Amino acid sequence: MTSDDVRHLHLRAAGTSVALELSGGLLPVVRHWGSDLGPLGDDDLAGLALAAGAARGDSPFDVTDRVSVVPEHALAWIGRPGVEGSRSGRDWSPALRTTGEPEVSTLPDGTQRLLVRSADTTAHLGLDLELELHPGGLLRLRATLTSTGGGRYDVGAVRLGLPVPERAGELLDFTGRHTFERIPQRRPFGAGVHSREVRTGRTGLDAVHLLCAGEPGFGFRSGQVWAVHLGWSGNQQTYAERLSNGARLLGSGEALEHGEVSLGPGESYATPWVYAAHGTGLDEVSGRFHAWLRSRPHAPTRPRPVTLNTWEAVYFDQSFERLTALADLGARVGAERFVLDDGWFGGRRDDTTSLGDWTVSPDVWPDGLGPLVEHVHRLGMEFGLWVEPEMVSRDSDLARAHPEWLFSGGGRPGLESRQQHVLDLGHPGAYAHVHDQLLDLLHRHDIAYLKWDHNRYLNDAGHTPGGEAGVHAHTLAAYRLMDELVAARPGLEIESCAGGGGRIDLGVLDRCVRVWASDCIDPLERQQIQRWTFALLPPGWVGTHVGSPRSHTTGRRHDLSFRAQTALWGHMGIEWDLTAADEDELVELAAWVRLHKQQRDLLHGGTVVNGDHHDDDTWVHGVVAPDRSRALYDVASLRRAPSGPGRVRLPGLDPDRRYRVSAPDPAAGLPGVLPLTLSMSVPWARAGVVLTGRVLDEIGIPMLPLLPEHAHLVHVTEV
Ligand code: GLA
Repeated sequence: MTSDDVRHLHLRAAGTSVALELSGGLLPVVRHWGSDLGPLGDDDLAGLALAAGAARGDSPFDVTDRVSVVPEHALAWIGRPGVEGSRSGRDWSPALRTTGEPEVSTLPDGTQRLLVRSADTTAHLGLDLELELHPGGLLRLRATLTSTGGGRYDVGAVRLGLPVPERAGELLDFTGRHTFERIPQRRPFGAGVHSREVRTGRTGLDAVHLLCAGEPGFGFRSGQVWAVHLGWSGNQQTYAERLSNGARLLGSGEALEHGEVSLGPGESYATPWVYAAHGTGLDEVSGRFHAWLRSRPHAPTRPRPVTLNTWEAVYFDQSFERLTALADLGARVGAERFVLDDGWFGGRRDDTTSLGDWTVSPDVWPDGLGPLVEHVHRLGMEFGLWVEPEMVSRDSDLARAHPEWLFSGGGRPGLESRQQHVLDLGHPGAYAHVHDQLLDLLHRHDIAYLKWDHNRYLNDAGHTPGGEAGVHAHTLAAYRLMDELVAARPGLEIESCAGGGGRIDLGVLDRCVRVWASDCIDPLERQQIQRWTFALLPPGWVGTHVGSPRSHTTGRRHDLSFRAQTALWGHMGIEWDLTAADEDELVELAAWVRLHKQQRDLLHGGTVVNGDHHDDDTWVHGVVAPDRSRALYDVASLRRAPSGPGRVRLPGLDPDRRYRVSAPDPAAGLPGVLPLTLSMSVPWARAGVVLTGRVLDEIGIPMLPLLPEHAHLVHVTEV
């Protein structure tokens, strides 16, 4: 940090530089966020600040090139302001000036941290800004707004933004729907605002996921990319804004309803963290998010247990006999955790009833869950349970006793969706009810894992009796509930599920260690869903299951080899009625589970790489060990291509080291992988071939013949 009135701060980590100007008492201005600029002295930084200013055109304001991370209208930012709000119509355009010295520190894990306190003494507002650069290069920011005046300050929005350079000419973000999450969409970064807003009270099946701006045509391995993500599971907005003066910014914040956050004297509102990563190619951006999650204090350190989930195997048809038969077969093929899905509680024989009554169903489980839990434990598996704590059925003891705990806006009953309503956890009684029932279950049984579902939108979510908007308070209460259960039952793991992949964000992932990426386990769809879910999350945090031969959500049939090979990469599981599988299928499935366990440290600890293949019919992805001594790649044919998969380049290895490339040995019991007759046609497949990492990345290898909707594994080991 330099002294005097103009100050500069240069943070560097893992190939990322963040150059900040802190001058004239203004909030920090980002002069550069992107590739590492190398060591820079004070003069260099002062020069950078001058050079980074916007070119002047027709009568601009003199200060428009100084856009702080909380863009201020009062400082001539003519786009979306960082702070929106008012005190009965006043104080709507704060001009924040720092109070005291910026605090720069280094946290024990090496994170570089900046805290800047500021205030507007006329508008009677204070704003504390926190900015952290993680050793893996992930940047995160948040602001805390405090009302220091009388009356109430109604907060409309507090947004944080980061500038990106003009060459970031293309945007990528995501959309989706039930069973079809994380569909990428690209567009030019045009003038105006491209805003993705969520008002469904959860991150969303159509979540923005990552909003990326990059050099046109950026891929996994090429082109500079800047990306932001909001760590929040409630209403939100994430946007890219380009002004007429050329300024480009990526911004994000919570989407607040009117009156939802209204600050009395001395009260504060803290934004969720906005996360940001830069990289050359998307893989580098993803790597920064992965490094962040893997470094979190709650990140799992033990191998991810192969999971058998009962949902698509039995749906609501639960009985001790059926489920113990399934558990027996699960254990036989190598499952390590058994998860009892929806249907075990209250009168829940279908999806019309009993949410909110979290007591074991006496009709289905007359002896309670104890005998099933014991059976599962005797087989050497952990026991997990599905819950949907934020939901309530009209037909439930809970709704009959406390109809006022259901969200309803404007005095009218809330709209029903999937025959269920939302329990407003902003009511202390509602919170205590669900907290106590879940805790009781955790005390009665050795439950290692909760699959925490959230199957409907929050809409018109008014807090009774007044009808005030309640999503903000509910989201914080849901986080608190998860935190308290984990604290009460150390080691408890929670999976975030929301009708599939509807709640995947770094807010919920501060307390969950797995997400359910989609209710669709058709491997063809899963190739796409997982490719893009892995863009944010490390594969070990993403549930990937082997389903039945005919997909329940698409009706397509796939060989076990493609189903298993697609599930191999994430937190692997099985969601298939194994009592309907034949002996050959069980043997093959067991071989795939064995392979997953053999490679699990690599699959879950390695660097995720994706190939920019020359056509979009073949996808190449893999994981490379952190020391780059070995790697495993997946080459999947999604459609028949005019020229077949052709030559496949294998990225991410050390260019100067030599590697043996081989296909898995058919004797490993993976019959779908590589029929020997096919392997004969490509010489390297029989004995392997040794090539340098540079040759593998630049030239690649000719791929084995590949049927559509099939995949090959390629092993790479340093020699
Ligand atoms: C959601 C989940 C499924 C399953 C059902 C149960 O749809 O995504 O995996 O748990 O709920 O009702």
